[in-house]
Amino acid sequence: MESDLVGWVSVVFRFVHVLAAIMWIGNSLLFTWMELNLIKPASAGGENPLLGTLDMLHGGGVYHLEKRVLKAGAIPEPLHWFMWQSYTTWITGFVLLLSLYHSGSGAFFIDPTKTALPGWSAVLLSLAGIFGGWLVYDRLWLSPLRRHAKIAIPLSLALLVLVAALYGQIFNGRAVYLQIGAMMGTMMSANVFFHIIANQKRFMAALQSGKPHDLELGKKAKERSLHNHYMTFPVLFLMLSAHFPQLTAAAWNIPILAVIVVTLMFIKFLMNSRYTFSDWLPCVGGTFFFSAATIFIFLALPGVMESSSSPEQRRIVAGRQLFLGTGCGACHMQGSASLAPDLHGVSGKPQPMADGSVVIADADYLREAILTPHLKIVKGYPAVMPAYAGQFSAAQIDSLVAYVQSIGSNP
Ligand code: HEC
Repeated sequence: MESDLVGWVSVVFRFVHVLAAIMWIGNSLLFTWMELNLIKPASAGGENPLLGTLDMLHGGGVYHLEKRVLKAGAIPEPLHWFMWQSYTTWITGFVLLLSLYHSGSGAFFIDPTKTALPGWSAVLLSLAGIFGGWLVYDRLWLSPLRRHAKIAIPLSLALLVLVAALYGQIFNGRAVYLQIGAMMGTMMSANVFFHIIANQKRFMAALQSGKPHDLELGKKAKERSLHNHYMTFPVLFLMLSAHFPQLTAAAWNIPILAVIVVTLMFIKFLMNSRYTFSDWLPCVGGTFFFSAATIFIFLALPGVMESSSSPEQRRIVAGRQLFLGTGCGACHMQGSASLAPDLHGVSGKPQPMADGSVVIADADYLREAILTPHLKIVKGYPAVMPAYAGQFSAAQIDSLVAYVQSIGSNP
């Protein structure tokens, strides 16, 4: 029942999470696009309340938009605010993360080949990163460095990669990617709450009390809004990365993460420059191929583990890469055991079968469960696991079994 509940929470919250994120990111992209395409009036400021205009054709209608300075006491009704898409995305995302922590109390995050830390410590480390990451980022962009984007941007990105590398010492690759995505997503939502909406509230309150429209407050909000805009592509990629085990499980997964984050931000920058930079499209193509080539070089490099560890360690690492890289994890690591049995702690334990028998999960059973799963069906699960006989070499099967046994020993 409890694992059912986690499964249903996952269905509802994941769907709402994706939906709200689409609405939020859609707004971010559209509003930044509108800002870039505003036609500035010949004489701005002074008596002229217009900051820019824009005409658009969409869905069979023509829209005329004005960006303008408001006069005290003349606030239009209704005035639409945008914030709940962001808050809904964060809240549902946080609940999903809690349900992942809950399953196996953090074992989902820990890489047992790297550390003997208990699962619950991963939960604390993950939460510390999510809230601490926001504090560090926010402080940095409130400091005088804020005026030196050429320093502040590379510094922010370097800190992010450093944090990813530290998590990579303890977490498995999939969890590192998700953790960095969750940290950036939190920064985005906190930007909306603490800066964008807060500053909008400030100048609206001033207007209501008869003071002039403070455009500086708007500029501060805009700065964080632009940060959010540039974080959208990387966060989307990181949130989908559970589907890209060939990257998350790679030996050099952290440098690959760095390349992806920087590339996606730079591609967004090029896309935004399209109205002033005619070669933007070839540059997007060039950036893509350069980054893809860099990633392929990282994928071809041997990992540090591969040359220095014991044969048993190497088998486990190879097994983990196969497990994540060939889709086992898609069913077995969903964060809930509703789709397929959670393989943590299975090794060596009695397994109840659908036919009423009980089998001890030794190496032979695990090998058979992978090669010919239909021979023995675990009680409570549908017989949906594909048979892998003929797909793996004997050495690969050995490494998969070694990996499943290793996650079995995790507390
Ligand atoms: C389409 C989903 C799916 C995929 C992909 C999948 N499995 Fe499974 N697996 C299941 C289900 C469902 C069961 C339980 C039913 C059964 O025994 O067949 C299971 C059972 C197992 C068991 C026995 C677990 C126990 O509790 O006794 C092992 C071991 C296992 N899978 C390993 C793997 C490995 C290794 C891979 C990748 C090479 C893999 N699975 C891929 C769905 C999947």
